[in-house]
Amino acid sequence: MKAAVLHEIGGVPRYEDFPDPVAGDDEVLLDVRAVAVENVDKLIAAGTHYASRHYVDQLPAIPAFDGIGALPDGTLVGFGNPRRPYGALAEKTVVAKGAYMPLADGIDPATATVLGTAITAMSLKTAAGFVPGETVLVQGATGVAGRLAVRVARLLGAGRIVATGRDDDQLREVRALGADAVLNTSAPDEELERAYREAGADVVLDYLWGRPTEILLRALVPRSFAFPKPTRLVQIGESAGAALTVAAESLRTSGVEIYGAARRLDAATMQELYRQVVAWTLSGELTFDLVRVPLSDIETAWQRTDLRGRRLVVVPG
Ligand SMILES: NC(=O)c1ccc[n+]([C@@H]2O[C@H](COP(=O)([O-])OP(=O)(O)OC[C@H]3O[C@@H](n4cnc5c(N)ncnc54)[C@H](OP(=O)(O)O)[C@@H]3O)[C@@H](O)[C@H]2O)c1
Repeated sequence: MKAAVLHEIGGVPRYEDFPDPVAGDDEVLLDVRAVAVENVDKLIAAGTHYASRHYVDQLPAIPAFDGIGALPDGTLVGFGNPRRPYGALAEKTVVAKGAYMPLADGIDPATATVLGTAITAMSLKTAAGFVPGETVLVQGATGVAGRLAVRVARLLGAGRIVATGRDDDQLREVRALGADAVLNTSAPDEELERAYREAGADVVLDYLWGRPTEILLRALVPRSFAFPKPTRLVQIGESAGAALTVAAESLRTSGVEIYGAARRLDAATMQELYRQVVAWTLSGELTFDLVRVPLSDIETAWQRTDLRGRRLVVVPG
């Protein structure tokens, strides 16, 4: 079969022949139909992600750990965790029986690869207990996940949406998607802190962490004695840094509540969120910006830096 083959940690996968996987008794062979290439896949292949040792424990290897495929009977499924060194970026892969879920009817495989990213924004409801009419700040709104969060916040009935990013051109695009106001996080610290304070937010969906969120937490500290309505912050991503410093007074006096996106998630809730996102997708209320490329273009596609909030989706065959 053809596959994207990684020969060295930190290298770029190449389109090459690779031995076909053979399914064991507890495994199933899948024809791969679509795979989203995300930053996490690149970090794993670069050896800089904590999961690198797990997913790239032998070379050569095929990157990407999830995707959409067809079972031998043709049923389309979302799958995860191929048996190493097989990965998702190939014509075929092999997974444990049960390591897949049938796709909702009517969703095309490329779009299906991005539904999980949209679901992260549903943590607005599950983790933060959002109620319609509240102000939502999407921290890191110019990426794929952030742009989807702006759309989802609108669909859930946000009263006002504030979007942040570090590039004015992209922030204009995010405004066109439905944000009511935008903030550029590349402003100097004091200016940014003032902008956050003026923007206000009931709930923050945070895809950045690092410096921008450190300043945001500072901005929540009341400047005079008051009983502020605490902001709820949902931590989802870390594009701007894996760590930050929180001054004790930020928590003490603002009453800010910080949740992980997984708060209140269980299998039944995930099903419910999935069904909602699928319904919006099928009705056309939720749209996805994808760049579809054939597997044969993987080497160039892997190195693209012009995606601007569009998800790269590799479509084998
Ligand atoms: N993909 C998922 O399904 C998923 C699910 C849950 C969580 N997450 C996490 O959410 C985060 C965003 O994911 P994504 O898929 O949206 O990625 P993405 O499309 O690559 O977007 C990354 C975003 O982060 C911004 N950014 C990168 N470095 C920055 C920095 N130093 N300072 C400020 N902004 C910075 C980028 O700004 P520019 O556009 O200006 O470069 C872009 O808006 C990641 O941490 C990811 O692991 C992703």
